[in-house]
Amino acid sequence: MSQLLEKIDKGSLPRHIAIIMDGNGRWAKEKGEDRLFGHYHGVESVRNIVEGCAELGIEYLTLYAFSTENWDRPEYEVAGLMELLVSTIRKEVETLNKNKIRLHVIGDMSMFPDFAKNELNEALEITKANTGLNLVMALSYSGRWELANAAKEIAREVKEENLNVEDINQKTVQQFLCTANFPDPELMIRTSGEFRISNFLLYQLAYAELYFTNVRWPDFRKENLYQAIVDFQGRERRFGKTGEQIAETNKAH
Ligand code: IPE
Ligand code: IPE
Ligand code: MG
Repeated sequence: MSQLLEKIDKGSLPRHIAIIMDGNGRWAKEKGEDRLFGHYHGVESVRNIVEGCAELGIEYLTLYAFSTENWDRPEYEVAGLMELLVSTIRKEVETLNKNKIRLHVIGDMSMFPDFAKNELNEALEITKANTGLNLVMALSYSGRWELANAAKEIAREVKEENLNVEDINQKTVQQFLCTANFPDPELMIRTSGEFRISNFLLYQLAYAELYFTNVRWPDFRKENLYQAIVDFQGRERRFGKTGEQIAETNKAH
């Protein structure tokens, strides 16, 4: 067993880990290859990390695979990513089922070409009764899109007189996010040395611990995940309180 894995306290795992899978393009360029080559190899990391999370008993894993802004990339790259997405889902859905993994998608599905939408919907349907790891794919997703969308839906509820303006609070907002049924991520990992959020889960990351690594996504493996979890477990999460208050509550438990 890996030494890092042994260091992980199984009793205080994050319930939800979110990852910005970055660096595929640079990984490929460094090898003198086309960006799409990096995306293909990124799929191997997805497999490995999904497996790693399932083995640990993580409840939710959200993977940022394609942002709203990524639609503006060169046409060939967007087309290549769509095909990769569809072929990967087709290939992997059986394995997901075997491992009791339930697939979810967050994002603006209406932007997707029909062939991709159909494949995704089929996979959602096939895995919907699974009770193991919830694998949440953020596709055509952006935090600002999600918040604007929530505002629109809340306004509709008010207009249809299902909701009073005075009753709108944080819980209401949360209920209209794509992640309404998921807990907020406690740990957010970004690969490839970029220190930004890039429109990912803007609302949900309010109190997440952020972990950045220089490792490019196609090189990211279980060991790197364990390292992030060990780091996470060494932090003190204060939620606005003082360190002394946190120590008191920890003593009480
Ligand atoms: C992440 O890798 C995958 C997607 C955004 C689809 P990038 O393609 O952003 O790789 P870099 O950041 O250019 O190296
Ligand atoms: C964020 O990565 C989106 C995904 C990983 C899917 P980008 O590579 O698109 O982010 P920026 O452009 O460097 O901020
Ligand atoms: Mg990038």
